[in-house]
This record gives sequence, structure tokens and C-alpha cells, in this order.
Amino acid sequence: MPHKVVVTRRLPGGWVEELRKVAEVDLWEGESPAPRDWILERVVDADGILVTLVDRVDRELIDRAKRLKVISTYSVGYDHIDVAYARSKGITVTHTPEVLTEATADLIFGLLLAVARRIVEGDRLIREGNWNKPWSPEFMLGKEVYGSTLGIVGMGRIGRAVARRAKGFDMRVIYYSRRKHEEVDYEYVDLDTLLRESDFVVLTVDLNPETYHLIDYEKLSKMKRTAFLVNASRGAVVKEDDLVRALKEGLIAGAALDVFEREPIGKDHPLAQLPNVVLTPHIGSATRETRERMAEVAVRNLILALEGRKPLYEVP
Ligand code: DGY
Repeated sequence: MPHKVVVTRRLPGGWVEELRKVAEVDLWEGESPAPRDWILERVVDADGILVTLVDRVDRELIDRAKRLKVISTYSVGYDHIDVAYARSKGITVTHTPEVLTEATADLIFGLLLAVARRIVEGDRLIREGNWNKPWSPEFMLGKEVYGSTLGIVGMGRIGRAVARRAKGFDMRVIYYSRRKHEEVDYEYVDLDTLLRESDFVVLTVDLNPETYHLIDYEKLSKMKRTAFLVNASRGAVVKEDDLVRALKEGLIAGAALDVFEREPIGKDHPLAQLPNVVLTPHIGSATRETRERMAEVAVRNLILALEGRKPLYEVP
């Protein structure tokens, strides 16, 4: 086999088998992520590596991998990779956008509905045996989604897919991003206006030095007290301690979160103590169909780059 590649996780669909047709594959078969030492040992003579977002691809790893031509991540996000350093060594870095857009937007909308209409709280109430009064006019009142204002931070693929869903709910959609996108028909506003006017603030930005802790106490205090924050991008876009404080102080009405500053979180995490918060375990792209498509794209990216051809998606 001309190429040697390291794959740090089993992937759904038969895509690792496809990869074996063109490369010698060193696959981590464990249920938990590949130990760092296992990866560091294997990359020494690898031409390519296929990683997931839990594998840190930093200078130490890149320096070890003297033959590396391509880093293919099985994710759209690439904040776990030192892209600039990889590029300085002539290594191509690829990712899996597009194929996960709709699944992620579905989850974001699900989170938004769940927190606004107190769906998880209601489910918990019944399971804990606390639905003990007949129907009443003011029981478990939530926030109306239909016709409300949705503020999207980041107007990339996922932001647009969320906006399309919002149109079905007759929502007013406003957005903030680094630049105005002339090709979309939604209202472009500055971040403060978005925070002030939105009933739902949805974060869909990448994590990078500019978006790290973008939403902190000061920003949260600009939101309406009746508004909700929804985050399925990366946990560190929100300063989590500040969010907990804002929720406790009633600065905002609630939050729905799929991502956290340090994952996984446990039941003792401060966010898990708050009733007006919906939590999911980083499952934005977790549908069978999407995860198989991600595997296909990650493997194809790897093979194309190994063959010196243009991958489907090089990170921007
Ligand atoms: C990604 O791809 O970056 C998501 O967080 C997981 O699919």
C-alpha cells in the first residue's frame, strides 16, 4: 500500500473499508477516544490522519508526524486543530461541512422549541410524579415561538438553515456576523441590537479567537429578560460561568445548550441544576444518515489529498 493512515475512531457506514482499499489503516477500535499516546506513536510514519473533534492536533502531534500530508477531521468545526501550524508544514486540513447542516439546524430548532415551551420540564414533571393537578389556565406557561424574533449570530450554512425553519414559524429573523451577506434576505444588525431585540438568540459561529467567550455577562445583560439563548456551536463561544450567573439572576429566561466549555458534563454541573435550561450531549449532527455522510466526506477528503488531488472541503 502506498499510503499509511491513522484513523482515531470507528466510523459509521463502510467508509473505513473503502479507505483500506487504498491505504494501510491503523484504526483505534476502542469505545472511548484513542489515547493521546496511541496517536502520537502512530503518526510518526503516517501520511494521513483522520481525527474527530475530541483529538487535539497541536504542534506536538504535527511535529512528530514528519510524513503527514493531510489531517481530515470528522467534523465541521476545526478548533481542535492548529490549522496555521499544519499549513506552515505543508499539510492540508479538511473537514465535513454541508452534510451536517440540516441535522444540526433541526436540533437547534428542537432545542429552541423545547426550552420555549418547557417540553423537557413537563416530561420531567410527569416522570417524577408531580402532575397532580387538573388542567389550569396558568400552568407551565412558556414563550410563544410563532411570530417572535429570532437573532442568529453567524450567517453561515447552519445559520441559514435555522433561518429557513424560522420562516415556517413566521418569525422575524435578524442576524449578526462579521459581514453583511448580500445574498440573504434577512435583516443585518450589530450584535448589541440583536441581543436587545431577539426573543431567541441562536449561536452558529465557529470557535476562533474572535468568538471565544463572545457571549459573556455583559452581553447577556443586554438580552431581554424574557429571551432565551440557544447554543449548538462550541461551548467556549459562551462564558459558561457568566451564563450560569445570568440565569440565576433572571437576566434571561432560559437557555438550551448542546455544547459546553468542557465536555462531557455531569449531573452536578451548575447548568444541570437550573430548571429553565435544556441540555443535550453534543448531538447536533447525530443522525444515522448525517454521521454516515460525514464518514464518506472525511474519507474522501483524506484519499483525495493523499493522491495530491483537491479534497472536497479544505478548511477555509
Ligand atoms: C462538528 O462537526 O463540528 C460538530 O460539532 C459535531 O458534528
